[in-house]
Amino acid sequence: MSFSGKARLAGVMGWPVGHSRSPRLHGFWLKQYGIDGAYVPLAVRPEHAAAAIRALPALGFHGCNVTVPHKETACRAVDRLDATAKRMGAVNTIVVLEDGTLEGRNTDGFGFLESLRAGAPGWRAGSGPAVVIGAGGASRAVVASLLDSGVPEVRLVNRTRERAEELAREIGGAVTVGDWVSRETLLEGAALLVNTTSQGMTGEPPLELSLRALPVNAVVTDAVYVPLLTPLLAEAKSRGNAIVDGIGMLLHQARPGFQAWFGVEPEVTEELKRHVLEG
Ligand code: ATR
Repeated sequence: MSFSGKARLAGVMGWPVGHSRSPRLHGFWLKQYGIDGAYVPLAVRPEHAAAAIRALPALGFHGCNVTVPHKETACRAVDRLDATAKRMGAVNTIVVLEDGTLEGRNTDGFGFLESLRAGAPGWRAGSGPAVVIGAGGASRAVVASLLDSGVPEVRLVNRTRERAEELAREIGGAVTVGDWVSRETLLEGAALLVNTTSQGMTGEPPLELSLRALPVNAVVTDAVYVPLLTPLLAEAKSRGNAIVDGIGMLLHQARPGFQAWFGVEPEVTEELKRHVLEG
């Protein structure tokens, strides 16, 4: 691979970063659109994260993605935050603006909604309450984006109730917190079920949740994408619910960054999905 002196540069900053699929994802688009550019893994230790972010303009980078554990550090290191990053308290995308200043954005919620809309075209925000399981970083983006899109009620439930209550307080709006022990009752009348916990991932036990009370016209989606068909999605599918797998959120959250850095609005295709999953 060779680049001209004018190659546009971007990457993903994390520690560790070797597991990130973003270089494969952006690399596919760079090739597809014939762009003179590179997207590289940036393995940056936590103690160096702020300095590394501040160095992006001097190095000629157009920006980068930020992943674990730097998403909160990035919030403090950039010059300004867009409204979503401010609300999330976390940055996943940094853009070096024309004047060399740094803008922090958060596109995780956008990625979630775009993936949901693409995977379940029949789903409407107004069709009913959404049940969200888990209260970590992924949950925060999912809950905020669902409320912004007009979902009438988000029923949030987490093994550690306090974390769900804190998230609900911070996000505000129509979020009700349920009890972990009676989580199955929250499924009654729901139009959407989202798992944002790590349960069901390869190496982890399946999410313990009976779907008996869930209407069959509800959509079920999972943030886990290894495996693509989690035990939760398999059960939902077998009882006739529409399902949306977790890889779409990763693919769609990448679109705004790619457009900002490389100047092309990229498309999420089956070929891209296969390429990213093979890696
Ligand atoms: P992320 O930022 O990727 O969402 P996280 O902050 O580590 O990751 O959150 C992981 C989520 O999975 C949390 O909601 C966690 O519940 P707790 O807040 O109670 O820890 C949830 N989780 C992890 N292991 C779980 C388990 N065995 N049963 C139920 N929920 C679990």
